[in-house]
Amino acid sequence: MESTLTAPAQTGDPALARDVKKRRTFAIISHPDAGKTTLTEKLLLFGGAIQMAGTVKARKSGRYATSDWMEVERERGISVASSVMQFSHGGCVFNLLDTPGHKDFSEDTYRVLTAVDAAIMVVDAAKGVEEQTIKLLEVCRLRDTPIITFINKMDREVREPLELLDEIESILKIHCAPVTWPIGMGKRFQGVYHLLNNEILRFKAGEENANQQFESLQGLGEAALKERFPLEADTLLSEIELVRGAGDSFDLDAFLKGRQSPVFFGSGINNFGVREVLRALSDWAPPPQPREAVERVVDPTEPKFTGFVFKIQANMDPQHRDRIAFFRVCSGRYSPNMKVRHRRTGKEMKIANAVVFMANERTRMEDAVAGDIIGIHNHGQLHIGDTLTEGEALQFKGIPYFAPELFSRPRLRDPLRAKQLNKGLLELGEEGAVQVFEPFADNTLLIGAVGQLQFEVVAHRLKTEYGVDASFENAGIYTARWVTCPDAQHLAEFTKANTLKLARDVDGNLVYLADTRVNLMLAQERWPKVAFHDTREHG
Ligand code: G4P
Repeated sequence: MESTLTAPAQTGDPALARDVKKRRTFAIISHPDAGKTTLTEKLLLFGGAIQMAGTVKARKSGRYATSDWMEVERERGISVASSVMQFSHGGCVFNLLDTPGHKDFSEDTYRVLTAVDAAIMVVDAAKGVEEQTIKLLEVCRLRDTPIITFINKMDREVREPLELLDEIESILKIHCAPVTWPIGMGKRFQGVYHLLNNEILRFKAGEENANQQFESLQGLGEAALKERFPLEADTLLSEIELVRGAGDSFDLDAFLKGRQSPVFFGSGINNFGVREVLRALSDWAPPPQPREAVERVVDPTEPKFTGFVFKIQANMDPQHRDRIAFFRVCSGRYSPNMKVRHRRTGKEMKIANAVVFMANERTRMEDAVAGDIIGIHNHGQLHIGDTLTEGEALQFKGIPYFAPELFSRPRLRDPLRAKQLNKGLLELGEEGAVQVFEPFADNTLLIGAVGQLQFEVVAHRLKTEYGVDASFENAGIYTARWVTCPDAQHLAEFTKANTLKLARDVDGNLVYLADTRVNLMLAQERWPKVAFHDTREHG
């Protein structure tokens, strides 16, 4: 990461440096059904965070039918608690950030991925690389996030491991370094060979408890292998020779740069292979990294507290319209009641009651360092992308808004509820549930989304939380572009000539609304000095 300005001297506080070094903040990415929920649960189980299987599974994001509101509500309720899960294991403190499963909430997912330092990619061994995996990996690549690959469901009849690695390498454009290699599959799945430890871990079906130790066979020679695994040994030996000869061997530096992914085979449901993934996270995944702000790069061990909001979630209590802002600490140490500066408004605010998320319960946060996620209650002061610091004027970069692909206009069934409608939409816009635009031409708010389901969630929440019955009709808009121009005079001319096509977003930025692709191209040709952006940074 480059900066023209040098960062202040790092902390002389060894306790802070030691605590930061222990943090592992990560997300699990996968196509729905590959086994993300199962792996999440097993990691928590192994990490000692939950006693019983089923806690995470109960929520099952991404499965509901489009209009199944019970599910959406249930998801919202539980997701406040399980959006972030902190657990300690083997000397590390893990922060696991959940990403919504449904593709219509991909904007939310993008932002969550800006707050992690590593990701686990779960691939269904029978299906290989799927559509959502491709998209999510593209997002990880924007920040070169290190990726650990877990190839799941080896207890089923699946595809050949070499073919799967080939597919990952060619479609996802990331080098694979197998760390474990499967011995058989399906009914004849015998376990994995650990390439770095020269050890065989024997598979045993069952998910009774987290401490299930799998039998380990150290350093077996060819003859012993053939005796133990008469049907699989030949294939295993030739595959290992191939992998060792032609494949990449694990290279920590290449992994940390996001160029190479260590690959593990296993079966999440049977607890098999999960321990190795957890170990890879503690041994290889990076601790919190320096973060780029507009002004300079911030080191995680700097003594002064800084961080940013990457997600807002409305609280479940409709009586109190408070929200929880999910805030990633980037440096310093959080302590209760600390006073911070809110960069966007310039105001001072006190963080009195931050919460930490421990599996399925919330507890008061007493202490947090870089990499940790704290939940800050607020009544709308905090927006996605906001930076808080202990005084310094800093704005963290890299938390994007994406140009919506779907636009609609709300239609009220009761015109007297217009005020409540606008209030509701603006608040939901600030929360990031949808994007809300105020057109220059009239005073009907326009809403934009990346996925259709977002409109349905908004219609439902307007009804239950604001008492507003609204339907949404297609606004006939192709896309939006944020416009900027260094020449104020020129921008004023552009604005005057395009009033009917312009709007402001919730943070007051100028947006051009194009009804067709051709129309957008013509506007770009006509106004070459105006920049049309398809993403914008928050804040
Ligand atoms: P997701 O969060 O990525 O959507 O996936 P989830 O963990 O819910 O797993 C999807 C399905 O795959 C579930 O089955 C789950 O039990 C199964 N599964 C996960 N890991 C393994 C594995 O290692 N081996 C096998 N054979 N199956 C696995 P389901 O029948 O769809 O749901 P459920 O009835 O078990 O909840």
